[in-house]
Amino acid sequence: MSDQPPVASRESKAQVRQMLVIGAVVSALGIALALVIDWFPVPGSTQAGPIDTLWDVLLIASVPVFVLVETIVLYCAIRFRMRPGEELKDGPPIHGNTKLEIWWTAIPAILLVALCTYSYVVLTDIEKAEANTMQVRVVGEQFTWTFFYPGEGGEEIASPQLYLPVNTPVNFTVQSKDVIHDFWVPAFRMKIDAVPGIDTHIRVTTTSRIDEYPVVCAELCGLGHSTMRQSAHVMSEDDFNAKLDELANPPEAGGDEEGGGGGAADADGKTLFTESAQPTACASCHTLADAGATGTTGPDLDDVIPDLTDAQIKESIEDPDAEVTEGFQPGLMPRYGDSLSDEQVDALVTYLKEVAG
Ligand code: CUA
Repeated sequence: MSDQPPVASRESKAQVRQMLVIGAVVSALGIALALVIDWFPVPGSTQAGPIDTLWDVLLIASVPVFVLVETIVLYCAIRFRMRPGEELKDGPPIHGNTKLEIWWTAIPAILLVALCTYSYVVLTDIEKAEANTMQVRVVGEQFTWTFFYPGEGGEEIASPQLYLPVNTPVNFTVQSKDVIHDFWVPAFRMKIDAVPGIDTHIRVTTTSRIDEYPVVCAELCGLGHSTMRQSAHVMSEDDFNAKLDELANPPEAGGDEEGGGGGAADADGKTLFTESAQPTACASCHTLADAGATGTTGPDLDDVIPDLTDAQIKESIEDPDAEVTEGFQPGLMPRYGDSLSDEQVDALVTYLKEVAG
């Protein structure tokens, strides 16, 4: 029994070498492919750099491990498969190999500890509190985000879109009015759950890039989840201050246009209906031919509006759950009575009455 090994071991050494060479070549190809793929959108925060690098390092470390294991499995399945006439044969008995076992325990352990340490360092670094941090409160609800900025005299300024100045550290306090949502701006790379009853936080520092990035909800939160999209506008310091002023003193409340030369811009029903910059997003859930809207989450307005009185339409906008169209669920549409002025609701009613059907 003891004079058999030499021949087998010379052959198996060659096989192991062959296996490792294939593994190394495929690993190199795998890493190159993984790094060539453009995984992320344009970076919009200083956090994006370290996170993208961490991702690349994780790819470089994990692709070879995956490829090595798969190569060995495939190689063995092909090379040592059972051939006709070998049905009753059993392979040579294998006893443990202490040296090999030490290696395959030590290498993954070192790799894991190193990657965990590196991730921890990156995480603490990007979450560091910085001087002159701007505070923004983000409130999620089915199915919209509202952003609150600290205003004068402790009063908050609400905004349906996220506006941020360039090169500014921001601390987001994230909350939810109803179910779990998830506040995510992919360009910032940071993301956190909005959980009813507690405050969660993320820190983001904008870069000098002036741009508009999507804000999305990353937690399935109901039928309108996919429509819970807004935008983050990163603007110059001056533009940002002007924007805050405008939000703090909305034209219809400030009485800028007295008398009015026929139809103030923000009382235009069609604009309210279609423009995503407005606090309504009717078009994302409803169908209305005149506005080019094809949403199906809520009732088809061309279908239902002609049968409704002005008062009923008004109620459906201000307090949608008071009476829900058959076949649709309550609780899906926000109460726009809370965010729109009387004139704006009237403008929507007039517009809908005019074009629906
Ligand atoms: Cu909110 Cu998904």
